[in-house]
Amino acid sequence: MAEPEITLSADKLPKHIAVIMDGNGRWAKSKGKARVFGHKAGVEAVRKTVSAASRLGIEVITLFAFSSENWRRPEEEVSLLMELFMTVLGREVKRLHKNNIRLCIIGDTTRFSARLQKKIAEAQALTADNTGLVLNVAANYGGQWDILQAARQLAQHVADQAMPVEAITETTLAQALSTAGQPDVDLLIRTSGERRISNFMLWQMAYAELYFTEQHWPDFDEQSLADAIAWYVNRERRFGCTGEQIQALLES
Ligand code: IPE
Ligand code: IPE
Ligand code: MG
Repeated sequence: MAEPEITLSADKLPKHIAVIMDGNGRWAKSKGKARVFGHKAGVEAVRKTVSAASRLGIEVITLFAFSSENWRRPEEEVSLLMELFMTVLGREVKRLHKNNIRLCIIGDTTRFSARLQKKIAEAQALTADNTGLVLNVAANYGGQWDILQAARQLAQHVADQAMPVEAITETTLAQALSTAGQPDVDLLIRTSGERRISNFMLWQMAYAELYFTEQHWPDFDEQSLADAIAWYVNRERRFGCTGEQIQALLES
């Protein structure tokens, strides 16, 4: 007997998807090009992923753009990444706004140039009241840093006698993280074959399903996201669903 056709409803989808966009360098190398070329190509994958997540009605997507450890890369690559970040921010923010997307830059932005910090503040202010997808871009972000800065905030409240020690709970600590008010990560995607967390959202990923794909980030597209989500739905809900069904949701 044939399995009854399931209709996939939006509440089965992950609320929060986090992505470690890895493999730009390897992608470029495989084409005999400089790493920079891979980072530039990665921007197109970001656009496709954000657009698909928005159309699927996902609540939050977090993209790991620059880790607190990435400063250790050659200076030339770091400054190129900063430059790229500036240009993309300037170019894309209007489109995000038009699509009702709220942009949040999470991470220690104080280490960025004054020019970049200003751009970030403007982009966040422009989209602050949008009610659609929340797009977190993790820049100079580290999971340990996030927990540390939250702990410091709470310690300061205690030192100021604004709260008793007993009021430090999982809930108040989560409220002091850079993702305050957002649901925890349901699905982590890492491209390019590495199976590490690389100091990404440690607290928020406590119960996340971890999805690893061999695809390099610049090759990631709508279909790749649909496949990852289908994999998640199948793991979480224990019934069969395909990337095609997610694609159908995208088109509906
Ligand atoms: C990810 O690609 C992008 C950033 C970390 C900014 P990589 O630059 O890490 O590419 P690989 O891992 O060297 O291939
Ligand atoms: C993680 O990728 C950080 C980003 C995607 C921004 P990396 O390529 O920097 O991580 P490691 O060094 O391989 O762990
Ligand atoms: Mg890498």
